Amino acid sequence: MAPRNTDIIPTVEGLAFGGDYNPEQWPRETWDEDLRLMREAGVNLVSVNIFAWAGINPGPGEWDFTQLDAIMDLLAAGGVQADLATSTASPPPWFSQAHPETLPVNPEGVRLNSGARAEYCPHAPVYRAAVVDMASRLAERYADHPALAMWHVGNEYYRSCTCDFAAEAFRAWLTERHGDLDGLNRAWGTTFWSQTYSDWSQVLPPRICAETPNPGLLLDFRRFSSDALLALFRSEAEAIEAHSPGKPITTNFMVTGNFTGADYHRWREHTTGPNRLVASDHYLLPDDPIGWPAQAAFGADATRGLADGDPWLLMEQSTNSSAWRRGYFAKRPGDLLRHSLSYVARGSEGAMFFQWRASRYGAERYHSAMLPHGGPDSRVFREVKQLGAWLKLLGEVKGSTVDSRAAILLDFNSCWAADTPGQPSSDMTTYPELRRWHAALWRRGVTTDLVNPEWDLSRYTHVFAPHLYLLDDDANLRAYVERGGTLVVGPYSGIVDSNDHVHPGLPGALGGLMGIRVEEFVPVPKGDKVALDNGWEGETWSEVTHALDAEVVADFKDYPGTGAVFRRRLGDGEVWYLATRITDLDPLLAAVGVTGEFPEAPENLELVRRSHEDGRSYLFAINHSDAPANVPAAGRDLLTGNPWAPTRPLEPGECAVIRED
Ligand code: GAL
Repeated sequence: MAPRNTDIIPTVEGLAFGGDYNPEQWPRETWDEDLRLMREAGVNLVSVNIFAWAGINPGPGEWDFTQLDAIMDLLAAGGVQADLATSTASPPPWFSQAHPETLPVNPEGVRLNSGARAEYCPHAPVYRAAVVDMASRLAERYADHPALAMWHVGNEYYRSCTCDFAAEAFRAWLTERHGDLDGLNRAWGTTFWSQTYSDWSQVLPPRICAETPNPGLLLDFRRFSSDALLALFRSEAEAIEAHSPGKPITTNFMVTGNFTGADYHRWREHTTGPNRLVASDHYLLPDDPIGWPAQAAFGADATRGLADGDPWLLMEQSTNSSAWRRGYFAKRPGDLLRHSLSYVARGSEGAMFFQWRASRYGAERYHSAMLPHGGPDSRVFREVKQLGAWLKLLGEVKGSTVDSRAAILLDFNSCWAADTPGQPSSDMTTYPELRRWHAALWRRGVTTDLVNPEWDLSRYTHVFAPHLYLLDDDANLRAYVERGGTLVVGPYSGIVDSNDHVHPGLPGALGGLMGIRVEEFVPVPKGDKVALDNGWEGETWSEVTHALDAEVVADFKDYPGTGAVFRRRLGDGEVWYLATRITDLDPLLAAVGVTGEFPEAPENLELVRRSHEDGRSYLFAINHSDAPANVPAAGRDLLTGNPWAPTRPLEPGECAVIRED
């Protein structure tokens, strides 16, 4: 295992606290008030220049750094550090007008207009050159600025495009992946519906067509688009490194919702390790049947997986409602404190927000902020100050890590493939199922990493694969089990290979490992349940499945197969296979023997430990429930400075961070 990168933002003392800061939207007088209030709140890091291309480079060949110089100097003088962004996520209108071919084209073939943001085609040569130029100029100018803590490349990479540049780049990418046109035809199964290509010029990105498009094409296009965004990120990062060696570089991943805009696992090599850090944005979605505390934990655990277990940074969250969410929702008093602490508990080196001061104008004028329209005399700002004070008290936590003993498998390719049209059930999507399993484990007090099925899994006692639809072979999972791990696999897994071809003999990639054979899929209509003979129920999906070399733990009551839940011992470990989505996961989790460290702790008492290599450890305790709950730890609560005894109840809504004896 590579050595841990535990000092991800060396110049920031203690944990980071702040948010996006857009002073270019405000008159100069406001800046002084900003700095005064930042100091009052304990802000030590702000993200600047995220969307300020138009100010720095107001026209072709025109450069003006006066305002950014002033902002950086203001921060340095005020003792606040800068996460300096490259501003390349939003080319200004002059750029789009001068280079209309850089505007993205949607699948309908419509070239989008300027007027919002992220209006670029990742494949357009002019745009690609412009972002490297921008990153170089900024790095050259600010490398030694005293305010500079780190570099922030782009913003939430997600844009894809289907223009002619995209088509050309896609063909080159496909040649690399599949060798030649024969290879492509085989990979995409083009004998189906007479889709065989006889010349590369016939190969197009997924533009709108008459009927269900080729799923192999859709899947490869997502991979290609993700790689193109990664190339953009790398080009800027390398330009920065040339002038500003040794400074941390990041980009903010988006882990809100189904977060599948890019295959972040393929980015790992370029976003972890020396002078790189993983940062993520997590906006809680309202109307979540599972609830916000578990949703926040999911975003954090997913990010920690992306960071390979190293500390990471929560770059954006909201203090209250989000502008892009239709319909009102508001965080309850104390939520921003509890959520922020949960991210920190799970490895974030601080808590950052979008944004510092609520904008008076623009598309996000009603997005919540650290300093709301209501001003500093407000509940939100008081909670912001409280959080700043807490994070200061938690400085010694910086650099510690979370040691999860259980993992949930996440493969972006598999999520994408399961999303392609033509599936037997539109309900067999991956993301909600990962959330459901994660939440069931969260309720049991089990902290999980979300990791790729091909990574080293040896540190985990339990690995859960709720829905691993796409898998080439079982080699890594088999090795994990044979060495003593417990692997639990949900239904409709191991079905297709990486070209999205159904494996012969279901479930092709996993049948041998599981000792089972799937004869037939039986999707379950929404709202219906299937009964199992041990009292459990299943939903959404079921399979007529036979045990070949596995013990039948439970059978369907009404199905002609030979089982619904299977278990097989293999080497020093064991595998479980589920032929339906088990409705109540808790009895199953008990049966496979996964428990949290504090099995007596009530549901909704979140307990997570961070530890330093030298053994110092911190138990984060967050009571999300309506009842007092005992936290079975002894030490000192860093938030109050008081000793903590195992009998001390944590009141509803209360938090503690106990430095353990
Ligand atoms: C993020 C984005 C920010 C801001 C925020 C609002 O996705 O990075 O710039 O738009 O959403 O929630």
